[in-house]
Amino acid sequence: MTQRPDGREEGGFSRRTLLKGAGATAAAGALGGAVEALAQDAGPGLPANASGIAGPGPVPMTLRVNGGERKLDVEPRRTLLDALRGDLDLTGAKRVCDRGTCGACTIWLDGEPVYACMVLAIEAVGSEITTIEGLGTPDAPHPVQTAFRKYDALQCGFCTPGFVMSCAWATKTHGAELDDAGVRASTCGNLCRCGTYPHVIAATLEAAASEEGK
Ligand code: FES
Ligand code: FES
Repeated sequence: MTQRPDGREEGGFSRRTLLKGAGATAAAGALGGAVEALAQDAGPGLPANASGIAGPGPVPMTLRVNGGERKLDVEPRRTLLDALRGDLDLTGAKRVCDRGTCGACTIWLDGEPVYACMVLAIEAVGSEITTIEGLGTPDAPHPVQTAFRKYDALQCGFCTPGFVMSCAWATKTHGAELDDAGVRASTCGNLCRCGTYPHVIAATLEAAASEEGK
C-alpha cells in the first residue's frame, strides 16, 4: 500500500509533521507555541491568508472528490477522513484505528491507495480523491464489488470499503497478471477481524480476470 503522507513534502503539510510540531510545543508547555505549530506556511497551491499562513482556524478549500468539486471550510489540522465523513457526508471510508494501521479508511489519492486518516484535508487540495462511493453504485457496481458479493467476502462489513479500494487498485494495476501473492501484498495494510481473507482473495482474482476489472 502506498502511504503518501510521510513522503509528501511539496505542500508543507503532513499529519505527522503537524503532530510532531504540536507534540514538541506541548512538551515545552507553551500555548502560544502550540498555536504557532498549527499555523504553518501553506506552501504553493494551498489555501492561506495574505501572510501565506493557513489556520489555525477553518480555511476555505476545494477538494476534487469522485469527479466533482466540493467546497468546504476546515481547519488545517482536520484529516481528510474526518472531512470526507463529517463535512462531505461520504461515510464509506471507516474510522477505526485513526492512526494508519487498519486500512478501514482506505481511499485513492491520485489513483493510489492511501489511509485517509493519515492525510490532512488541506494536503489533498489539488489531488483527485476517489472514495468507495465513487467506485461503483448499487446499480453499476465495480467488478470487485460484484465479486465480493458473489464470494461472500465480508461478514460484519466494516473493513470492506477499505478492502474493496485496495483490491480494485490491485485489479486496475495488475489486471489478469494479478495472482494470490499480489492480492495479499495489495491488502497487507488492511485488517479484517472477521477473517474473510480467503474469500477476499478469491473475489479479487475473479474480478482481475474479467475485462471490466482491469
Ligand atoms: S482508520 Fe485509518 S488506518 Fe485505521
Ligand atoms: S468483515 Fe468484519 S472486520 Fe472484516
